[in-house]
Amino acid sequence: MLVLGIETSCDETAAALYDTASGLRGHALHSQVDMHQAYGGVVPELASRDHIRRLLPLVRLALQQAGARRGEIDAIAYTRGPGLAGALLVGAGMASALGAALDRPLIGVHHLEGHLVSPLLSADPPRYPYLALLVSGGHTMLLDVEEFGRYVLLGETVDDAAGEAFDKSAKLLGLGYPGGPALARLAAFGNPEAFELPRPKLHSPDLDFSFAGLKTAVLTRVRALGGNICEQSRADLAAAAQEAITDVLVHKTRRAQQATGRQRVVVAGGVGANRQLRDKLAAAFEPAGVRLHFPDLEWCTDNGAMIALAGAMRLQADPSAARPAGAFDVLPRWDLGAIASA
Ligand code: KG4
Ligand code: ZN
Repeated sequence: MLVLGIETSCDETAAALYDTASGLRGHALHSQVDMHQAYGGVVPELASRDHIRRLLPLVRLALQQAGARRGEIDAIAYTRGPGLAGALLVGAGMASALGAALDRPLIGVHHLEGHLVSPLLSADPPRYPYLALLVSGGHTMLLDVEEFGRYVLLGETVDDAAGEAFDKSAKLLGLGYPGGPALARLAAFGNPEAFELPRPKLHSPDLDFSFAGLKTAVLTRVRALGGNICEQSRADLAAAAQEAITDVLVHKTRRAQQATGRQRVVVAGGVGANRQLRDKLAAAFEPAGVRLHFPDLEWCTDNGAMIALAGAMRLQADPSAARPAGAFDVLPRWDLGAIASA
């Protein structure tokens, strides 16, 4: 079965072709980062318009790479939510139009399920069951994953997501959007011990996270340093923020692993690209014999491959999940827990 995957939930337009017999056959992506940079964040209306311009050429490119014709596509998977409503509608609309033209079914994919299956695209994919740390721009969750589609939420953020903590701290330090990678680059030149930042909820008995206080603490330090913050202090503060965020993520993941006894830990979502997070998780788990799985860097942030794969897996698990073209709709606030009933 050849599945076309379409991703347009936020600021990346992407298309990919996943073949259940031979794996990923083609993928193409356009990042809108340059366009949104001037505004310091994603402008939803601009995102939607750009998805409209980019999507069809990207689908063609993915087909070219796969050496496949449109008619060979068996099903069309698209990100149904969560995400920006207008942006999601572009992908859903295009998927529906293609589905109608080719007489093929649609499958609406949950964006987070896409992230959760992204490590399966690597050369050494994890086996089920596993514990998952999902860290993206909008979500921070610990999930017990018994098998594909069975997700038990163990903990999540009560306010900002880890990616938001990176992005907001970066903004306060005058770094561009998206801030995570920029903050990580600057942090490499800093001393994390130069500033003491809080580790919210580190010692709370639950598996929830809270990052809003961290952003406020960074703001307080920036203000205390006055308008003319020197380059070294910026780097030190970046290093301290990264250290605090990754400390909390690693500590809670370790606690969740001990509570569930899972022997495999999967990290997914954009923040999973962070080097320090990867190194600290490796130091925490490898000596204990717990296997760690990260998606390849290119599948950490939003992409079409994970949507094509999640769509293919869902269709294989439940053929009745396929919907006729024309029945498209989007769920901007789709809860992962509701995935079976949506
Ligand atoms: O998963 P993703 O691409 O989009 C969402 O579904 O939200 O995640 C984007 C987030 C942003 O907050 C971005 O700053 C963060 O992932 N990010 C990073 C790194 N690369 C991306 N954060 C820290 N270090 C990185 N290297
Ligand atoms: Zn994402």
